[in-house]
Amino acid sequence: MNVLVTAGPTREPIDPVRFLTNRSSGKMGYALAHAFIHAGHHVLLVSGPTDLDVPDYVDFIPVTTAAEMNEVVAQHIGRMDIAVFVAAVADYTPVLTEAQKIKKDGDRMTIELVKTPDILGSARNTFGFGGTLVGFAAETENLEENARKKLVGKSCDLVIGNDVSSPAHGFDSDRNEVVLVYPDRTEFISSAPKSEIAHDLVDVILEIHRTKESS
Ligand code: C5P
Repeated sequence: MNVLVTAGPTREPIDPVRFLTNRSSGKMGYALAHAFIHAGHHVLLVSGPTDLDVPDYVDFIPVTTAAEMNEVVAQHIGRMDIAVFVAAVADYTPVLTEAQKIKKDGDRMTIELVKTPDILGSARNTFGFGGTLVGFAAETENLEENARKKLVGKSCDLVIGNDVSSPAHGFDSDRNEVVLVYPDRTEFISSAPKSEIAHDLVDVILEIHRTKESS
């Protein structure tokens, strides 16, 4: 199977020395890429900047901004059977990137932002992806409800939600606790190392793919 995994944060430049980003470590996405390799599949990992080692045997394309991630996904998703969007893509990017370092002239400053491309939301309609589509939802409240909105709104087969308000799980933690939101039901995976959760998720995603193929 050919599997695309997006991972990590994106960085949206404000000027040559500053950027907007978020707290994603990339650990969950890298663990998933590793688990798909372990299960014998081909993986293309498209990742924003992280401190992690690239798992052995994955094809790796590093990117910095949401726009770059969008371009790489658009280019490669057509040959994928499964696409798993784990990346914490910045929702907004500066309208202008200053060519020189911004000086601290005033007491206040405003940076105008514009929405980034919704990569997961483009998968079905814009990129024409017909394979198994999995999204993630990092939330601080109403986890299941927000994950279900994403599932329906972005035509996913599964959305995996995690509560990032808990310090023991989510961002930068080695453990996670997730909710699996399917079109017809919801399941929970209780707290476990991200590597273990990744192996469970690979089994779940491959099962969804098999069911889809045979229907
Ligand atoms: O950021 P948000 O919680 O909406 O992300 C939900 C899902 O959408 C994640 O799977 C994320 O990788 C994906 N996403 C994306 N492009 C964006 C924003 C989010 O692919 N611009």
